[in-house]
Amino acid sequence: MTDLVVRRLLIDLQTPLPRHWCGGGTFRTAFFNALSMSFPVGEQFFIDSVRNGHKALSAEEQARRQREVQGFIGQEATHRRIHALFNAHLEKQGLVNAWAPRAESRVKLLEGLDPRHPLAITAANEHFTAILAEWLLRHPALFGDAQPRLKTLWLWHSAEESEHKSTAFELYQALGGTQEWRVKWMRRVTFFFLTDTLRQTLNNLRRDGTLWRWATWKDAASFLFGPTGLVRQTFKPWRAYFKPDFHPDQQQSDLSQRWLQANSAQYTVAGARPN
Ligand SMILES: [Fe+2]
Ligand SMILES: [Fe+2]
Repeated sequence: MTDLVVRRLLIDLQTPLPRHWCGGGTFRTAFFNALSMSFPVGEQFFIDSVRNGHKALSAEEQARRQREVQGFIGQEATHRRIHALFNAHLEKQGLVNAWAPRAESRVKLLEGLDPRHPLAITAANEHFTAILAEWLLRHPALFGDAQPRLKTLWLWHSAEESEHKSTAFELYQALGGTQEWRVKWMRRVTFFFLTDTLRQTLNNLRRDGTLWRWATWKDAASFLFGPTGLVRQTFKPWRAYFKPDFHPDQQQSDLSQRWLQANSAQYTVAGARPN
């Protein structure tokens, strides 16, 4: 079992965000803004999936996993709240969240299904967040140094994603979820995650008035395809999910604990709590 604690971030989220807060890059800012827009709906879905999956276990298994599940729910609930504050600033900048309503209508389609389906979808998404998290913790320079509070927000979220990356996966396995469906859902999640991220990033750039700037696509090229770029660094760990003996713990995540230790002045520990 993973010991998960809930942390309260001690950063300023009142001051408006500069338009290109992420290292001055228009593309990378639009990309992270897009991800943030998906979090409140997405993370509520993860919470519900894990809560329902947990309820479907035997009483003995439920008791054994109780603390971890509470920690998971507490962490994701905190992420939702913080990203809702972040997203309110984006709205004031004139950006429009088209991803959240699409995600909400897809979530409705899953109502009444066996709890292993939403859990497999959650496990697939949690693999995406875990590999993104590991990449960000390894290359924090891509945030630049202009907005340390926002860099802290994203790295704190990354550190906790890394910490709880096995929770949904292990619940799925404990409920007898099959490899076939796990992989099937990962293929679908990959399609939706990539297309939704791209659509919302382009939408953000268009509303920002920077879609057709040369500097935007130069930023995109280095951010995605540079030596430390997203695509190059995350393709292999993404592919590992398809192996029959895959487990999230096979992938390194020691950067998470290192970041949390080195940045303990940036948060307080609130303890695990149900939500
Ligand atoms: Fe999260
Ligand atoms: Fe998560």
